[in-house]
Amino acid sequence: MQVLVTGGAGYIGSHTVVELINAGHQVIIVDDLSNAKASVVDRIQIITGVRPQFYQLDCCSSELINVFRLNKVDAVIHFAAFKAVGESVQKPLEYYRNNINSTLMLLEAMEAGGCKNLVFSSSATVYGPNNPHPYKEDMPAIQSSSPYGWTKVMIERILTDYVAVHPDFCAVLLRYFNPIGAHDSALLGDDPNGIPNNLMPYIGRVAAGKLDHLTIFGGDYETPDGTCLRDYIHVVDLAVGHVKALEYAQHNRGVEAINLGAGVGVSVLDLVKTFERVNGITLPYIIGPRRSGDLPAFWADAEKAKKLLNWQAVHTLDDMCISAWKYAQNESNY
Ligand code: UD1
Repeated sequence: MQVLVTGGAGYIGSHTVVELINAGHQVIIVDDLSNAKASVVDRIQIITGVRPQFYQLDCCSSELINVFRLNKVDAVIHFAAFKAVGESVQKPLEYYRNNINSTLMLLEAMEAGGCKNLVFSSSATVYGPNNPHPYKEDMPAIQSSSPYGWTKVMIERILTDYVAVHPDFCAVLLRYFNPIGAHDSALLGDDPNGIPNNLMPYIGRVAAGKLDHLTIFGGDYETPDGTCLRDYIHVVDLAVGHVKALEYAQHNRGVEAINLGAGVGVSVLDLVKTFERVNGITLPYIIGPRRSGDLPAFWADAEKAKKLLNWQAVHTLDDMCISAWKYAQNESNY
């Protein structure tokens, strides 16, 4: 299949492009490089031996339609979006405009190009604060705690409404839990601009001596060790999940939400201790106050992905910590 990957130079996008190429697909990347480096395309070529086609383009631009005019696109995986939770609270209009407009432009361009298969990058954040864990796909997913999260809720709604009147279309909504880790080559990984907000890139910078300590946000939650529980999933497992979702979209119609998680809750302290043990280093950390908006605990019910996609996470927490540290140590990544 010829697959267009928006945001294909980003963290999850780039790993997915590698797995698509490994599975024999042709890939076209559309990325405006607003939060990714052009060198990622070279690195994908080093890893796979294949250079994907690359358009440096904002998905909100009307030029997007030309990509569909110039290429026969069989399916799209849509990652391109702003994704910083805290920033989205400060800049709600930018987040709504960018994430929603780009999806609308994409759907119009797909329609013009006759493309009817879409895999959308959603998030566990759509389950909101009121569902019990583990989260299951049939629970209400209609609430979030930040404008970033609301864009995911709204786009899921837009796709559901679109499919209702286009029954020959397939949209798979992949709800990710907490992707961490990096490609084994240490050439691709999570490399956010500025000081990281998410846990693993922050740990990587502390371990590399670029930041002096980690602050664990809250040690008094009602969890076994007082720190929050999350469902961490290796980014390569997540990438493979996208390839499976694409194959599913080829043979099915309608809209389907599917969790991509490992199905277990791991505490912040568990992750810190694992990182220290497998990498043989000490991570300086302090326990600080809770971060506003954080939920104490959530993880995935991962059964639907197993059943519909024949997919499950195979990498361990050790693998995630080893690969993240290998990536953080590779100076050429910065
Ligand atoms: C957040 C978003 C999620 C988004 C994901 C990746 C929410 C509720 N969650 O997940 O939608 O997909 O980021 O962008 O909006 N932590 C520390 N110290 C740090 C950083 C984090 O203790 O310096 C803790 C947090 O309190 C949390 C855990 O580590 O318990 C994971 O945090 P993080 O990596 O930011 O992901 P989430 O907040 O779970």
